[in-house]
Amino acid sequence: MDISNGSALVTGGAGGFGSATVRRLAEMGAKVVIADVADERGEALAKELGNGSIYVHTDIMDENSIAKAVQAAANLAPLRAAVVVHGGPPAPGATGPARTVNREGQRLPLANFIHTVNVYLVSAFAVTSQAAEAMAKNEPLDSNQRGVIVNTASIAGFEGQPGQAGYSAAKGGIIGMTLTIARDLAPLGIRAMAIAPGTFLTYAYLTRATREEVQAKWGPTVPNPRRMGDPDEYGLLAAQIVRNDFLNGTTIRLDGAQRF
Ligand SMILES: NC(=O)c1ccc[n+]([C@@H]2O[C@H](COP(=O)([O-])OP(=O)(O)OC[C@H]3O[C@@H](n4cnc5c(N)ncnc54)[C@H](O)[C@@H]3O)[C@@H](O)[C@H]2O)c1
Repeated sequence: MDISNGSALVTGGAGGFGSATVRRLAEMGAKVVIADVADERGEALAKELGNGSIYVHTDIMDENSIAKAVQAAANLAPLRAAVVVHGGPPAPGATGPARTVNREGQRLPLANFIHTVNVYLVSAFAVTSQAAEAMAKNEPLDSNQRGVIVNTASIAGFEGQPGQAGYSAAKGGIIGMTLTIARDLAPLGIRAMAIAPGTFLTYAYLTRATREEVQAKWGPTVPNPRRMGDPDEYGLLAAQIVRNDFLNGTTIRLDGAQRF
């Protein structure tokens, strides 16, 4: 799809994957709404692009906030692409990984699991459905296409690590709903895809360690290339999915053959 006369929405647009994707979509000629809570990084990115893209403070835990971001994109130009790639706040009161039971065999608060599913799955569906509603109003382009939505799964949705039950459930939910959403949206000429990344060097890894430390720990877990992924490799795939009308209804692994 040619998005050069359109707009795009990237939730988590100031993040590692998000900012790489924003740059790629802007290169394709779209005006991009950078939807995030990281105001400083988001504003700086919009300014750097200087192509009519804007930063909109957006909390993906709040439906009204998502609605404002979608509307902001539709006000710039017809919304053609939405890439859903946000993180979220940690579970309130969580002190460690959300194991099924702790090492002493005791259950953890169910609220931890619910929070993780809300951040990574419920909010992704909320963005998807709101973006689809806006895209449904667009004039169709070639092959009767009105828009495309890309969600972000994870290899944890296929094979999760200990302590990741909530995260794996959420990411498995993204994988599971992608074909169904593509079928729902097919009559409208809107595609739905998901990307399942392996281990990428984004801000999420840099809260407690340097780039070198993170690479030394995680790089060797990837068979080939033997390093963490570069966020632009995600951005490139997101851009290809937007461009290529025949990609629909599936989740693409992007992981250097990594399997946990
Ligand atoms: N980095 C990896 O290795 C990896 C692997 C698989 C999947 N993922 C997934 O990719 C997505 C993005 O992660 P990333 O690695 O780019 O992390 P990141 O920390 O670099 O970016 C996440 C962005 O989300 C934003 N955010 C946090 N709370 C928000 C909220 N309430 N509303 C809106 N935005 C909010 C942050 O400010 C940040 O800019 C997540 O869904 C993550 O699960 C990451």
